[in-house]
Amino acid sequence: MAGEDLKDLADRAAAEIAAAADEAALEAARVRYLGRKEGALTEATKRIAALPPNEKPAYGAALNDAKRRIGAALDQRGAALRESALARDLGGEREDMTLPPRRVRVGRLHPITQTIREVSRIFGTLGFETVEGPEIEWDYYNFEALNIPAGHPAREKWDTLWISNPLGDDPSRPILGRTHTSPMQVRVMEKRKPPIRVVVPGRCYRYEATDAIRESIFFQYEGLAIDEKLTMADLKGTLYAFARQVFGSDRKIRFRIDYFPFTEPSAEIAFDCFACEGRDPACHVCGGDGWIEAAGCGMVHPDVLRRVGYDPSQYQGFAFGGGIERLAMLRTGAPDIRLFYQNDLRYLEQF
Ligand code: DAH
Repeated sequence: MAGEDLKDLADRAAAEIAAAADEAALEAARVRYLGRKEGALTEATKRIAALPPNEKPAYGAALNDAKRRIGAALDQRGAALRESALARDLGGEREDMTLPPRRVRVGRLHPITQTIREVSRIFGTLGFETVEGPEIEWDYYNFEALNIPAGHPAREKWDTLWISNPLGDDPSRPILGRTHTSPMQVRVMEKRKPPIRVVVPGRCYRYEATDAIRESIFFQYEGLAIDEKLTMADLKGTLYAFARQVFGSDRKIRFRIDYFPFTEPSAEIAFDCFACEGRDPACHVCGGDGWIEAAGCGMVHPDVLRRVGYDPSQYQGFAFGGGIERLAMLRTGAPDIRLFYQNDLRYLEQF
């Protein structure tokens, strides 16, 4: 094969390579011309040895030239094929701007959480700090320390879930799902020195058949203030300010005598009905009564103070406790407490 033939070979190879339709065809062409075993140029290279010495330089130069041209043609076609493959892939992924956007679902706080935060915020404006306590409580804090010893009739209305004691089942120290947030009164007083102003929202448990206004797991908020000259007037003023912030500036409150073992005197507080203001005998909010019972309250019993080491002649205090769901139902108009816990987003998303 002479130098002229090598040029023809390179021409043919370059044309073939330029026409390769895909990477596989390109690779086949490379093997055909440059392949180590039977590639056309490899074969041509072997022939050098048999040439007369005077022909060798020209032949070698033609050979190198052919190699270079074929190599360049392979590089060029390879790059072009990769580029068009990329363009094809990207083209397939192009966004369809005519599609309507996907709806972004924005989460929100549960109405009970909203109510707890509202209670904390309002009492915060009155100088009360929000604290939390254990839901699983010692019998001592839930009952004993609040003047409700074993056998006291008040225990009957607070039947609850008793838990076998993981700390050794010491029967003298039973534990239970707390039936109210009042035990935190004692825990806070044990830890702090007066003056004290705290509000305690938290989950409570009672062994209760569920109905439209009762759940066996529910939330309460507890308030406690201890200082040197606190009176029932401070209690009234505090709850009055609270009622007005929750239900509007012209709300009235009603105190009626009640009984709780850990306060003396004790009272039940009611707000006048914000829905009918006492004018609708068929009111869906107050049931025609004109008043909405909201919380229990009273002056902290001297025995409770003494038990935590406070001198009742120096310190007095008031306490109150009410239901969070109750407030949430009033705020949202929910007709049934169970709606809060069925977790039906169609209901909860309204708030
Ligand atoms: N803990 C009581 C209950 O669950 C409510 C209550 C009454 C709380 C009087 C108080 C209080 O702080 O002083 O029914």
